[in-house]
Amino acid sequence: MAETRIQILNQGPIIIAGHADLIDDQGNTIPRREPMALCRCGQSQTMPFCDGIEKGHMKTCSRAKNIL
Ligand code: FES
Repeated sequence: MAETRIQILNQGPIIIAGHADLIDDQGNTIPRREPMALCRCGQSQTMPFCDGIEKGHMKTCSRAKNIL
């Protein structure tokens, strides 16, 4: 099975490349896109996917050095 990669973009969405099931809060599978860009700002009109509206509005990024 291919490896799944999850990447947090600087001031942008979370990118998921590889196999992953996306499940909503009621247990339903959301049709996937490849790669998937999941909204991290809460402003997307196409939730849970990023539609690019965050550009210029997000100020933070999660980086390994800040978490460890
Ligand atoms: S992170 Fe892209 S619309 Fe929210």
